[in-house]
Order: sequence, then structure tokens, then C-alpha cells
Amino acid sequence: MAVNLLLGLQWGDEGKGKIVDVLTKDYNIIARFQGGPNAGHTLEFDGIKHVLHTIPSGIFHDKAINLVGNGVVIDPVIFKKELDNLNKFNLDYKSKLLISRKAHLILPTHRILDAASEASKGKAKIGSTLKGIGPTYMDKTGRNGIRVGDLELNDWKERYRALANKHEAMIDFYDSKIEYDLVELENEFFEAVKVLKTLTFIDSEEYLHQAQKEGKTILAEGAQGSLLDIDFGTYPFVTSSNTTAAGACTGLGIAPNKIKDVFGIFKAYTTRVGSGPFPTELFDQDGETMAQVGHEFGATTGRPRRCGWLDLVALKYAVHVNGVTKLMMMKGDVLSGFKTLKICTAYKYQGKTITHLPYNIEPENVTPVYTEMKGWSEDLTGMTDPSQLPKELNEYISFLEKELETPITIVSVGPDRTQTIHR
Ligand code: GDP
Ligand code: IMO
Ligand code: MG
Repeated sequence: MAVNLLLGLQWGDEGKGKIVDVLTKDYNIIARFQGGPNAGHTLEFDGIKHVLHTIPSGIFHDKAINLVGNGVVIDPVIFKKELDNLNKFNLDYKSKLLISRKAHLILPTHRILDAASEASKGKAKIGSTLKGIGPTYMDKTGRNGIRVGDLELNDWKERYRALANKHEAMIDFYDSKIEYDLVELENEFFEAVKVLKTLTFIDSEEYLHQAQKEGKTILAEGAQGSLLDIDFGTYPFVTSSNTTAAGACTGLGIAPNKIKDVFGIFKAYTTRVGSGPFPTELFDQDGETMAQVGHEFGATTGRPRRCGWLDLVALKYAVHVNGVTKLMMMKGDVLSGFKTLKICTAYKYQGKTITHLPYNIEPENVTPVYTEMKGWSEDLTGMTDPSQLPKELNEYISFLEKELETPITIVSVGPDRTQTIHR
């Protein structure tokens, strides 16, 4: 009877989708707890790459139930596209995909508002994925939102109309000159809602409560990363939900004392997509190599990801905020061939050397202090057992475990399901 959490410790894209897929065989239920189609979770097996945005990453397994929790925001249009993709693989998802009635819906006008808001910010834009995430969570906390459960009520289209009209006035307010054809967008939206309604809507908190009583195992899947958390991330360059461990409690209705392990995933280096501070960002050949070897392009938007050395100050902060019990290090294979590896262990900040994440990590405020380690040259991608890992990689891992006071239990050496070393 355990609920475990899996979440990203950096700025997203750590490899959550891959690891959820790897771990699913040990769980009865995989439950997404926040975010929406701003996420792009990639998994690979049998030579095929799948990208999921809203659907939990356990969907390709036969038995596990996949639940979209109340903390998630759903765009029916993107959800339908995800289902269409599953259909291509003849996947029978109907019996194993459940949706919380309390999850909020992303309307076409939320997406336009997102674009208008970003356009109005000019250089200060967040670099949002333009999926309507911010405006939808604003309507949620503003108590205006439309939820999945509302689709079962007769008057939902009137409520939709009232909210969309309000959004149109807000879009005009931005004076952003964004062109859109709302009739076309709405046709697509209503068609997609019809498809969404063919799935099973549930009172998910009650479902999960019963599941726990029956001794079922639950893995909560996070989206984005801890440094994108609305409270603890690099505000305002963050997403609009709590991506940290507490978000799993509010996003699923799971009590804090029911959570056992918190799996924290990080890349052996750091990436970030979108705007905002990134102290260890590289603008040289090393960063270029990470981007190329690691294929660092966003799974949702295709934008190039910014790359840099591992930032242990930020990682430690994420381990603390989440109460991580087990770490999983991804993309170690990408660092093969670097003669020297750098790890940021402190910041120079206002004339002092500090080892905690300060309020403001803009480049003019912090300069990273690096520890250097010897790199390894071996190709890791065919390795399957910890005994095969090069000595220098083991030293890299031991250094991190000591600094983070947490064991690294998985070392991932490639995108495929099988390229996963358990320690
Ligand atoms: P998520 O959002 O956390 O699920 O991560 P993404 O799917 O957005 O980005 C991770 C990318 O790295 C995907 O393209 C994965 O296929 C890939 N990937 C995951 N683990 C590894 C690994 O250990 N090595 C390499 N080379 N690629 C990996
Ligand atoms: P996964 O789950 C990486 C970033 C965006 C932008 C900021 C706000 O795949 O790790 P939003 O659309 O949420 O308003 O954008 O957050 N962002 C992500 N970056 N991975 C993600 O998800 C992200 N989801 C949002 O690039 O900087
Ligand atoms: Mg991603």
C-alpha cells in the first residue's frame, strides 16, 4: 500500500516519461497530477518513439490504470490527437484511461490569451509553450474555470459561451493584433469534446482512496520540473502549477502521510527551454556538444533547449523542497568524451560564496563556482549492468550522492526502455 512520486528536479525534460514507462510494471495505477499539454514526455521501445502530453506514461503497459488527475489541465483538442496516435498502434486505452471530473479544461480562447499575454510582454516574455496553461490556471484560481465534470451537465455550453465572451474582451484589451478564427477553433474544440466524453470520468480522489484501501500501488507522475514550480521556481519564468511533491497531494487528493518514496529525476547536465535565468548555461562548444549529442529539442514545441553544466546548488534545493528519497540520473551517455566535467557547487553572490539558491539568480547576481572532475570516454549506451560503468562515471555518481545525501538508484544511458541501469 504505497504511493510513490516521480518528478523532475531541474527545468523539465529530465526524462520523466522514459522512467515512468520503465517503472510501470511495478504499479497498479499511474496518475498525472499537474500541468497539461505544455509537457512532452518521450518514451522509446521496440524502435518506436512516443511523445505524450497529457496521457500518463504508463499507457503502453497492459494492466496499469492511467489516471489524469484533478490538478491537470486538459485541452480536448490535443488530447484527441494523443488518442489518435494511440489508435494507430491499436492500443485499447478505453479500459485503462480514467479522467478526473475535477480536472480543468483549456479552451481555445485560453490559448489565444496565452499568446496575447506573451506578445504584450515583449522581451520579458516567459517563453511559454503557448498551450494556454497560464490563463487556464488563472481561471481555476479565479473560480471561473470549466471542469471535465461540467461536460456532463446540460448547461455547460452556456457557461462555455459566457467564459469565451469574457476572454474575447480580454484579448481585445491586450491589443495584440493576434489573428484567429474562433468559429473554426470552436468547431475543432467541440468535436474533440465529443471524443473526450467517450472516456470514463471519475471522482478520482475517491477512486484513489479506495485503491489505497485495497492495497494497490500508485505512482504519481509529475510534469515540468521543480525550478518551474509556481512557488519555488525561478519566478516569473515558471509554469502555473506546483510541480513539486506537494502538487501530487493537491493534484490527486492524496494525503501527505500516504507518500512513501519520492523519485527525483535529473540529467547529468542541465537544460532549459524558454526564458529565465540559468546560471550554468554554456555558450561555447561544450554546450553545443551537449545539445547535439543529447538531441536537445523540446518534445512539445521543437525549440532548441539551452544547455549547461550540472548545477548542484539548484539540484540540492530541489532535493530538499521535494523530500527526494531516491535519485535517478539521466543522459549520462551524452557526457561521454568530455575530458573534464564541471559541477557547480556554489555561487559567488554579492561578494560572498554561497551554497544555497538565493532569491535572485539572474546572471548579474550569481557566478557559478565549479568543481572539476575527470570525464570518461567509453560509450555507455550498450551497458546494462552497474559493474560495466567506467570508474570516472562512478566517481561522478559518488560525488553527487555525497553532496545530495541521497542514493542514485537508476543511471539511464540512452532513450530506450532497455537502456536503464538499476543500482
Ligand atoms: P520528460 O519531459 O521529462 O519526459 O523528458 P522529454 O521526453 O521531454 O526529454 C527527454 C529526452 O531525452 C527524450 O528525447 C528522451 O527520449 C531522451 N532520453 C531520456 N533518457 C535518456 C538517456 O539516458 N540518454 C539519452 N541519450 N536520451 C535520453
Ligand atoms: P515536461 O513535462 C520543459 C516551460 C516553458 C516556459 C515555461 C512556462 O516535458 O518536462 P507554460 O507553457 O507552462 O506556461 O510555459 O515553462 N515548460 C517546460 N519546459 N519541459 C516542460 O514539460 C515544460 N512545460 C513548460 O518552456 O519556459
Ligand atoms: Mg518534456
